[in-house]
Amino acid sequence: MIFGAGGSIGTFAVQIARSFGADVTAVDSTGKLEMLRSIGADQVIDYTQEDFTTNGETYDVIFDVVGKSSFPRSLRSLKPDGRYLLANPGLSQMVRGRWTSRRSSKQVITGAASEKTEDLKFLKELIEAGKIKPVIDRRYPLEHIAEAHRYVDTGHKKGNVVITVDHKNHTW
Ligand SMILES: NC(=O)c1ccc[n+]([C@@H]2O[C@H](COP(=O)([O-])OP(=O)(O)OC[C@H]3O[C@@H](n4cnc5c(N)ncnc54)[C@H](OP(=O)(O)O)[C@@H]3O)[C@@H](O)[C@H]2O)c1
Repeated sequence: MIFGAGGSIGTFAVQIARSFGADVTAVDSTGKLEMLRSIGADQVIDYTQEDFTTNGETYDVIFDVVGKSSFPRSLRSLKPDGRYLLANPGLSQMVRGRWTSRRSSKQVITGAASEKTEDLKFLKELIEAGKIKPVIDRRYPLEHIAEAHRYVDTGHKKGNVVITVDHKNHTW
């Protein structure tokens, strides 16, 4: 289960999980659900219509990309020995996560991802094999980067926004 699946991290998370053979449920807003199906989500849930923690389903892994899932209710939606990953944890979630991981079979994993060469090589292989591809919403030239930020700040982009650089016009 990927919560906030339609953004930059989520669209990769959906595809990476699928490449491992996982059955993926993607949660995001109405306008992103079709795109999420197109990149391999097996089930989609519209968070504006439905609270995934009340549908009776349980998951092996819940990856909250956006940091807006309910901590206690998400834990209840985890299977025994499940993993609750938080890409954007608050202090309280980090403290409760450590407590939960010590006291139960469910593990809460928080913190920033570190880049490792072997992980990047693995991603490169997935991309070259056509198993994952970036979802690109819009492209802006470097000169219009302020406009690009304004669009991203709306919080509703699908996947990624790309800044294009014309190498002929820039010296580095
Ligand atoms: N831990 C790390 O190593 C690491 C690294 C990079 C970034 N981050 C953090 O990870 C977070 C996500 O980054 P991102 O670039 O993927 O963001 P993003 O592209 O803005 O994606 C967030 C997604 O969550 C959706 N969303 C918003 N509210 C939601 C809710 N209540 N329930 C479910 N989905 C909701 C948004 O869709 P709608 O707006 O359409 O609802 C959007 O599709 C950021 O906070 C960033 O700071 C962590």
